[in-house]
Amino acid sequence: MTWDPDRYLEFHDLRLRPALDLMGRISMRAPRNIVDLGCGPGNVAKLLLQRWPAAKLTGVDQSDEMLALARRGLPQAQWIDADISHWRADEPVELLFSNAALHWVEDHPGLFARLAGMVARDGVMAVQMPANFSAPSHGLIRTLAASAEWSDVLGSVRMGEVLEAAAYQLLLSTHFRAVEVWETTYYQQLTGEDAVFEWLAGSTLVPYFARLSPELTARFGSQLKAMLTQVYPQRSDGSVLFPFRRLFMLARGPFMQCST
Ligand SMILES: C[S@@+](CC[C@H](N)C(=O)[O-])C[C@H]1O[C@@H](n2cnc3c(N)ncnc32)[C@H](O)[C@@H]1O
Repeated sequence: MTWDPDRYLEFHDLRLRPALDLMGRISMRAPRNIVDLGCGPGNVAKLLLQRWPAAKLTGVDQSDEMLALARRGLPQAQWIDADISHWRADEPVELLFSNAALHWVEDHPGLFARLAGMVARDGVMAVQMPANFSAPSHGLIRTLAASAEWSDVLGSVRMGEVLEAAAYQLLLSTHFRAVEVWETTYYQQLTGEDAVFEWLAGSTLVPYFARLSPELTARFGSQLKAMLTQVYPQRSDGSVLFPFRRLFMLARGPFMQCST
C-alpha cells in the first residue's frame, strides 16, 4: 500500500498531539536506545530525539515513501524497512515507542507478547493507537465498501482494529510490572474543503485507495464525501467537528526478555 506523506501531514498538528501526550507520561531520564515502530515520515522520531538527544534512534516502517522523508529529515537516525509483524530488535530496547501504527498489525496478543520480549529490563513500551473504529466516519467507509458497487474490490479491506482498553490492561499486565492504559477523545476542529474526508484519505483510506485506479478512487471519494457531509456538517465558520478517540498504553519493566 502506498502512503502519501504530504496528505498524511496535512493535519500534522492534530496528528502529533497524541504522540506528545504519550511522551508527556514517560518519565525516563536518558534511554540509551529508542525504537519508533511505524515511524512514518519521522516527525515523531524527531521529537523523541529532541527530548532524548543522546539516544540511538531506530525507526521501523514498511512504506518507502514515508521512510524516504524520514531519512531526509533525520539522517543521523537508523531507518529500517520492515514489517512490524516480523521485525525483531537486535538488542534490548529501552524505549519502544509507537504512535498511530500498531492498529494496522494483526494478532495483538501475539504482537504485544513479542514486543514485550524486546524491551530492556527497566525499559518502557509506549503505544498510542486510534480507537475510533465505531465512529460514524469509519462506519460509513465500511458501509460504502460493502455496497454492491464496491464490495468485490473493497469488501475484504482491513482498516485496522484495536481491542477494548480493558483487554490491553489485562494483556500487558501479564508481560509488564507496571501498566497504564487510558483513552482520550480529541474534539478536533477541522478546516478546509471536505476536511473529514481529507483526514481519512491521509490514513484510514490508504488501504482502500491501494485497491483502486485513480478514476475509481475519485468516484469512491465523491460518494464518501457526500455521506460524510451529512454526518459531519460544516459549522457557520466553515469548520467541522471531528471527534476522535485514541487509546494509550504505557508499560514498564517486562517480566521476561526474549533472546533477540
Ligand atoms: C498513520 S502513520 C503514523 C506515522 C507516525 N508514527 C506518526 O505518528 O506520524 C502509520 C505508519 O505505520 C506504518 N505501518 C503500518 N503497518 C505497518 C507494518 N505492518 N509494518 C511497518 N510499518 C507499518 C505505515 O507505513 C505508516 O507509515
